[in-house]
Amino acid sequence: MAYTMPRIKFVAGNWKMHGNLASNLALLTAVRSGAASLGGQVAVCVPYPYLAQAQALLAGSNVAWGAQDVSEHAQGAYTGEVSAAMLNDFGCRYAIVGHSERRSFYGDTDTVVAAKFMAALKAGLTPILCVGETLAEREAGITAEVVIRQMEAVMAVAGMAALGEAVVAYEPVWAIGTGKTATPAQAQEVHAMIRARVARDDAAVAEGLQILYGGSVKPSNARELFGQPDIDGGLIGGASLVADDFLGICAAG
Ligand code: PGA
Repeated sequence: MAYTMPRIKFVAGNWKMHGNLASNLALLTAVRSGAASLGGQVAVCVPYPYLAQAQALLAGSNVAWGAQDVSEHAQGAYTGEVSAAMLNDFGCRYAIVGHSERRSFYGDTDTVVAAKFMAALKAGLTPILCVGETLAEREAGITAEVVIRQMEAVMAVAGMAALGEAVVAYEPVWAIGTGKTATPAQAQEVHAMIRARVARDDAAVAEGLQILYGGSVKPSNARELFGQPDIDGGLIGGASLVADDFLGICAAG
């Protein structure tokens, strides 16, 4: 696909359930200063209790912050949940929705993911919508079917204009935290397929859509992955917990 404008690379860290006040201070301080000279967009998605810390340490920098999930409800009797408006109170710009760990361990169905996507958008947050197939699904030859189903579940509820406000992350489940990265060609194939599906409904949204790759991205493989025409950046788990690695990946964008 030929693009009329250079695509801005976006690198987001997904800390998952790691960190503490002391280690976060060191990591956020290093990321803030290291990212100062980088182009593109950088964000970190930290555990809920550390959002205030991220806000305090990153305000005024070129590193944005966000959460790893969000409730589909605006408010009410939902013990343990955190609303999009609460994330806004802490200056979040992003909320990850549909991460495979939420889908597989916490029962986030396509319907729930679509509702969370809408809750984030309505509050002015940018959802980072994760999609991706398991190893069994890839081996069964149904990667495209699964990823398209996950995309369409959100497209049907949100509509194309809303999708255009979001970021998509393709994260093959078999590559997350396993050290097994999709090859640049494997990732590009799915990214192009996602973009083509979106283009069927809205070519302009498809062209502008940022589609990140996630799954064992490291400084050593980032450049080749990010060099693919339909890969617009990365969603980084393990390597986002090591400042030099995360910054090395950001620099590859
Ligand atoms: P990983 O995780 O980089 O550790 O594979 C990516 C993710 O789950 O977002």
